[in-house]
Amino acid sequence: MVQKRDTEFRSPKTLSIPWVPIVRNISEIGQDNYGRLGLSHMTIAGSVMHGFKEVEVWLQTFAPGVRTPIHRHSCEEIFVVLKGSGTLYLASNSHKNYPGSPQEFPIFTNSTFYVPVNDAHQVWNTNEQEDLQFLVIISRPPVKVFIYDDWYMPHTAAKLKYPYYWDERCYETSPIKDEL
Ligand SMILES: *[C@@H]1O[C@H](CO)[C@@H](O)[C@H](O)[C@H]1NC(C)=O
Repeated sequence: MVQKRDTEFRSPKTLSIPWVPIVRNISEIGQDNYGRLGLSHMTIAGSVMHGFKEVEVWLQTFAPGVRTPIHRHSCEEIFVVLKGSGTLYLASNSHKNYPGSPQEFPIFTNSTFYVPVNDAHQVWNTNEQEDLQFLVIISRPPVKVFIYDDWYMPHTAAKLKYPYYWDERCYETSPIKDEL
């Protein structure tokens, strides 16, 4: 049978992901640091793991001091902070030769924030006492990530990681606290 285009109506049956139960208990979903110290990642809904095509949903916990690298990606990304507090660094004028000096946004329990497509950013648990836990929803998986050493690194020098899967056991030989 000819596949219908995405823009056309599809029946609920076509949309279902047959190997994922409709209802799951997140306390039974595996989480791990996948080789990244101070971090816990759970793929609630994944493209590779579950076959979702348009979005991924992650639950992540960062210990005090843990941060993502400075990075950007060509997907939409929405965060919902469940616990803790920290700082979002966002270079909103990233569309020059390099990200440039970021703006700082305090994030806190029950805050929600989004990262505009291709804006370089870094999420940092700057709270020295508490874990920072959030849900992350991203579009267009799997993620294509560009990683920067600093805010003034030219876009052309950023390190591309594609596809980027959190679930990969990366950095097994030398865990890097600062990596995604
Ligand atoms: C977060 O929001 C929920 C729902 O409104 C509320 O019950 C809870 O007290 C809030 N937590 C904090 C720390 O504000």
